[in-house]
Amino acid sequence: MDGIDLRTDGIAVRDRFLTRPQIRALADSARKRRERGGFAAARIGADRRLQRRAEIRGDSICWLTEPLFAPERALLARLEGLRVQMNREAFLGLFELELHYAWYPPGTGYARHVDQPQDRNQRRVSLVLYLNERWEPSDGGELRIFGDDERHRDIEPKGGRLVVFLTDRREHEVLPTRQSRLSLTGWFRSRE
Ligand code: OGA
Ligand code: MN
Repeated sequence: MDGIDLRTDGIAVRDRFLTRPQIRALADSARKRRERGGFAAARIGADRRLQRRAEIRGDSICWLTEPLFAPERALLARLEGLRVQMNREAFLGLFELELHYAWYPPGTGYARHVDQPQDRNQRRVSLVLYLNERWEPSDGGELRIFGDDERHRDIEPKGGRLVVFLTDRREHEVLPTRQSRLSLTGWFRSRE
């Protein structure tokens, strides 16, 4: 079962959401998109104020747009099941999913931030799914999620691991990685 429970502290970590062949197939789809030039340096800010600030955010991203590869389509069908389940259990009013690959080369990270562009709150639930086949603690690149009291939790980007959290004001960062780090990152959005 794919059940995700956000009702306790608004964060859920699910290991082995993907099997090794599924991880490999999605990493392969990402590689094909990259070879076609589908990845671009990520920028920060909103709309006309978007800017590249590699010292804040060093990844390159590629949105999951049509045409989709078969492993991508299969994943989206599963995540649709997750959307329906979360709506049923937590009444989140989730309407659609936006999803992109994120590739961090060695030496990069993403400084502490929240996921809502200013003045907008359609992003209700953040999701990160890691596609790294091998990951060692010495590789860095943890997702650090902060609590209300400055305590934090570090989550290694192990292949197949799914992290889901309520987007609202939740501060988090990607610690500098020493290995090439690949994930799928996205948001379940509400209509308004
Ligand atoms: C993001 C983000 C976390 C991660 O892309 O907004 O916070 O672990 N990613 O990749
Ligand atoms: Mn984020």
